[in-house]
Amino acid sequence: MGLSLKFKTNVLSAIVILGILSLRVAECSSNAEKLVYQAINCRKHTAFLTDFGAVGDGKTLNTKVFNSAIRNLSRYASDGGAQLIVPPGKWLTGSFNLTSHFTLFLEKGAVILGTQDESQWPPLAVLPSYGRGRDAPGGRLSALIFGTNLTDVIITGNNGTINGQGAIWWDKFRAGKLTLTRPYMIEIMYSNQIQISNLTLLDSPSWFVHPIYSSDILITGLTILASIYSANTDGVDPDSCSNVRIEDCYIVSGDDCIAVKSGWDQYGIKVGMPTQHLFIRRLTCISPFSAAIALGSEMSGGIEDVRAEDITAIDTESAIRIKTAVGRGGYVKNIFARKLTLKNMKYVFRTAGNYNQHPDSNFDPKAIPQITGINYREVVATNVTYAGRLFGIKGDPFTAICMSEVNISMNQKENELPWNCTDITGVTSDVTPKPCASLPEKKGVTCLFPYDKQPIEDVQTKTCSYAH
Ligand SMILES: *[C@@H]1O[C@H](CO)[C@@H](O)[C@H](O)[C@H]1NC(C)=O
Ligand SMILES: *[C@@H]1O[C@H](CO)[C@@H](O)[C@H](O)[C@H]1NC(C)=O
Ligand SMILES: *[C@@H]1O[C@H](CO)[C@@H](O)[C@H](O)[C@H]1NC(C)=O
Ligand SMILES: *[C@@H]1O[C@H](CO)[C@@H](O)[C@H](O)[C@H]1NC(C)=O
Ligand SMILES: *[C@@H]1O[C@H](CO)[C@@H](O)[C@H](O)[C@H]1NC(C)=O
Ligand SMILES: *[C@@H]1O[C@H](CO)[C@@H](O)[C@H](O)[C@H]1NC(C)=O
Ligand SMILES: *[C@@H]1O[C@H](CO)[C@@H](O)[C@H](O)[C@H]1NC(C)=O
Ligand SMILES: *[C@@H]1O[C@H](CO)[C@@H](O)[C@H](O)[C@H]1NC(C)=O
Repeated sequence: MGLSLKFKTNVLSAIVILGILSLRVAECSSNAEKLVYQAINCRKHTAFLTDFGAVGDGKTLNTKVFNSAIRNLSRYASDGGAQLIVPPGKWLTGSFNLTSHFTLFLEKGAVILGTQDESQWPPLAVLPSYGRGRDAPGGRLSALIFGTNLTDVIITGNNGTINGQGAIWWDKFRAGKLTLTRPYMIEIMYSNQIQISNLTLLDSPSWFVHPIYSSDILITGLTILASIYSANTDGVDPDSCSNVRIEDCYIVSGDDCIAVKSGWDQYGIKVGMPTQHLFIRRLTCISPFSAAIALGSEMSGGIEDVRAEDITAIDTESAIRIKTAVGRGGYVKNIFARKLTLKNMKYVFRTAGNYNQHPDSNFDPKAIPQITGINYREVVATNVTYAGRLFGIKGDPFTAICMSEVNISMNQKENELPWNCTDITGVTSDVTPKPCASLPEKKGVTCLFPYDKQPIEDVQTKTCSYAH
């Protein structure tokens, strides 16, 4: 009896101990093997790039693997969607196409390398709102990561890297050796519900992130880095897009950190798709030869309702720059910026009405752009060479420019006037140094920044995961 009792307690305690152990094991494995991330939509199916035979040695081309993996996973579009996980390694590839209800996830240590073999970048037709390639009048090459006519597409990761190895393209561009326009790093057209987040993007051949003719776009947590001497490496270019939120990005670039666009001259006028309801927050920019935020120069479909706040620019040519020309048509209106912290700038504010690059000579000289309702407030800038160079168009002034609570400390080296304004009108309040005569002081004015919220501001992400 004593024996059997002892046996029972032993069995019981063994069961209890086993239970605790298996619980611990389960906890352990779920912690170690589950990767958690934030996204607008989670996916039911998971596959790894290596399931499709990819080789991550930095030398083997994986263009076919990426394309066939994504084509394979597109069958889940109507069954909860799929996520393709790119594990640590160097995955050399040419351009590949995305699909709907799909997530491309780059793990920490995963590097997608753009090949320098031009045959791996198929040509595409020119963009209808541009009428020609930006670099060359012929066609253009497909972006490294390309998507068209999609819904619900996510490119994210645990700060994985996409490296466009763009230097050879910058050299070809400068040597005038391109017959087709350089590829972008990521281009998504005619699509909606797009998220691009938590990645490091390096050395794009040309623009980095180019959503066009698309809506409902979330771009967050990107580190974008290119040599400050690289050619046309714009960071993010929302182009004829609606409802866009760009936040928590750090961009070092040879061109504008963010360039807002909507098509070029008669081609952009014909397509007529504006960029509107764009929110830019918590941007840090370094761009010694360009702007933190540029509006234009291609703005022929119109740019409206752009709100920017908490913008930091260091060693940057200008903070906000509006670029346009006769022949563009279109408009730039209802632009709002506040809380700008600027250091070591050539210009703070800059507008140019003579940005005379045209797709061809058939632009309409009567297509006059309308620039109005430009609001800047709460600006602190130090070590600035020119506070403002604000030039409109003769006979077509830029109107309703407002600046309030602006404190610009000029560097003393230059013997230049802080402001120079022609063909512009507006008001200022509490602006140092004293602005030009065409922006008279109107005491007590606070420039507008809208209180209402647009739907894209409220978009929340879900906690998604996959078993590792
Ligand atoms: C691709 O999809 C098919 C089903 O159509 C499946 O049988 C096959 O295993 C998949 N290929 C790979 C490499 O996973
Ligand atoms: C990618 O999409 C483009 C545009 O639709 C198409 O021309 C190209 O053939 C596609 N590439 C692949 C590999 O499917
Ligand atoms: C993509 O959408 C555009 C605009 O709706 C349309 O003109 C085009 O034909 C579509 N392309 C494809 C491949 O479905
Ligand atoms: C992502 O990686 C880049 C490049 O190494 C680094 O500068 C950045 O701080 C990282 N971002 C996060 C959130 O860890
Ligand atoms: C993504 O970046 C955000 C900050 O932009 C950070 O809060 C979040 O933890 C990151 N997520 C992952 C999976 O790295
Ligand atoms: C002021 O900015 C210029 C670049 O515009 C830079 O070369 C210089 O070092 C800066 N001076 C200080 C004191 O930061
Ligand atoms: C402007 O900023 C400088 C230093 O950045 C400060 O000394 C000065 O008081 C400020 N002026 C106004 C009017 O806020
Ligand atoms: C203002 O800029 C215009 C155009 O660049 C130039 O012709 C003019 O001399 C400048 N005025 C002053 C006072 O610097």
